[in-house]
Amino acid sequence: MTMNHERYRSDELLLVVGEAVGDRTHLHPSRLKQIDEHSDAYVERAQSELPYMAWFVRQFSRSSPVLRVSSFAVYRFPSSHSYSCSLSYTTMSKFNLNWGILATGGIAESFTRDLYPNPECRGVKDIQHTVVAAASSSSADRAKAFLKEVRAPESAKAYGSYKELVADPNVDIIYVATPHSHHYQNAMLCLEAGKNVLCEKAFTTNAKQTELLIKKAKEKNVFLMEAVWTRYFPLSIYVRDIIKSGKIGPVSRTFADLSMSMVPENTFDDSHRMVNPDLAGGALLDLGIYALTWVFQTLYTTQDKPQPPSVVSTMRKYKLGTDEQTSMLLTFPPTSARGEAHGIATTGMRTAADPDGKGSAGPAIRVQGEKGEIQVFHPAYRPTRTKLVLADGTVEEKEFPQPGPGKGSGWKNGFGGNFHEEGMGHGMFWEADECAYALKEGRKEGQYESLEESLVIMKVMDEVRRQNGMTYPEKIETTEYPVEL
Ligand SMILES: NC(=O)c1ccc[n+]([C@@H]2O[C@H](COP(=O)([O-])OP(=O)(O)OC[C@H]3O[C@@H](n4cnc5c(N)ncnc54)[C@H](OP(=O)(O)O)[C@@H]3O)[C@@H](O)[C@H]2O)c1
Repeated sequence: MTMNHERYRSDELLLVVGEAVGDRTHLHPSRLKQIDEHSDAYVERAQSELPYMAWFVRQFSRSSPVLRVSSFAVYRFPSSHSYSCSLSYTTMSKFNLNWGILATGGIAESFTRDLYPNPECRGVKDIQHTVVAAASSSSADRAKAFLKEVRAPESAKAYGSYKELVADPNVDIIYVATPHSHHYQNAMLCLEAGKNVLCEKAFTTNAKQTELLIKKAKEKNVFLMEAVWTRYFPLSIYVRDIIKSGKIGPVSRTFADLSMSMVPENTFDDSHRMVNPDLAGGALLDLGIYALTWVFQTLYTTQDKPQPPSVVSTMRKYKLGTDEQTSMLLTFPPTSARGEAHGIATTGMRTAADPDGKGSAGPAIRVQGEKGEIQVFHPAYRPTRTKLVLADGTVEEKEFPQPGPGKGSGWKNGFGGNFHEEGMGHGMFWEADECAYALKEGRKEGQYESLEESLVIMKVMDEVRRQNGMTYPEKIETTEYPVEL
């Protein structure tokens, strides 16, 4: 909080008084003179207008929210026939987070676009985001074009290498948006440079790499978070709260599916990151992690002392050796509150969780307890609809549209060229806000998915790959650093 002292000249004083009192008859200088002759009376009256003064100061003199106007006095200077006004007020300065964007692909664009709208449009008043730099491994021109595309400030720097980005002293936090194969090397580069990091999912290629990133973040005393954006949605908070409230009773099972019909041989060429082993391709690390996210955030995150699950799994492989369909059955050890719990997480590229795109096939996620269930509709990564169904006959449907600056704003976001309607956010700002709050509060990890939980999920995915003999090339599984990829 900042204490401010301001003095206004006579013409500004007229405006202050007019706005404060809300009555333009008070603007007349002769009236002010008259008031000033009885200055005690005037000051007393002004005190009663302090809330309006706070409003005025915010509107006309500072962008930060004004918490309180603590004093207000009027002075007359007979020799110059002028007046002045003195104000003391406290403001809550907005916490500003300076972002550096590492890579300029599809999700980098969606994420960085989402940093553009004023956080107040989603009710967030005390933080703000600024894009100060972006780097592309291909060229500085590419980074420059990207910054323009996402409406970054003119002053944002464009770099032609990731190394230059991590050396930029203006950058507080780096968003790593390369393919998962590259996360370990790229995130380690940032951490070594002492930068805070938000790293796209899957965190790394394997658990050992995640473990080393966590260790490095602790050593450097910086913030690190896996960018599982869905965790930070109000919808996810609502679902977790329903579970914790006991409304659906002890929860013993969650079904979660993220399958999207994108028949790989017709959709991706062999070099595409979705199927290419060199880029840690396959359904599991890209899509399956969301099915696991729902299993975990309903059966693990909601527990006081969560215990890692065991897993059995099966996998159908694509011609390149990466998985095109994977099914996992997780067993969470018993707790006194709910006993043993089972999570069924499925993913694939040949079938769809929502074939007609209208939810006709039913929910993608069902969280089941003794008194009912909470359902979440496709897509598991960006859901906007839930349905609570209780044994007592209660059925409650809820919509969670992503906020944004709204129609008429001329702003759009989406992924892969599929834009939402004008003014609607993609929803990646929730995780960005979490990073800002964490840094503001001095936290070193996200509050809805600890680093320990990210590591447990990586271990589950390692085990699923082990059970099904799916390996990646050594250069992307290695824990050596640095390695040129
Ligand atoms: N949260 C979500 O909803 C979501 C959605 C999609 C993807 N993702 C995650 O985000 C990451 C990136 O996915 P994406 O769809 O944005 O991929 P993409 O469009 O292919 O972009 C990846 C970017 O990484 C950089 N890169 C550096 N080395 C590369 C290499 N050898 N091959 C390919 N790209 C390389 C490139 O940027 P430069 O040339 O500028 O360096 C490229 O544009 C993945 O880990 C994925 O799981 C998350």
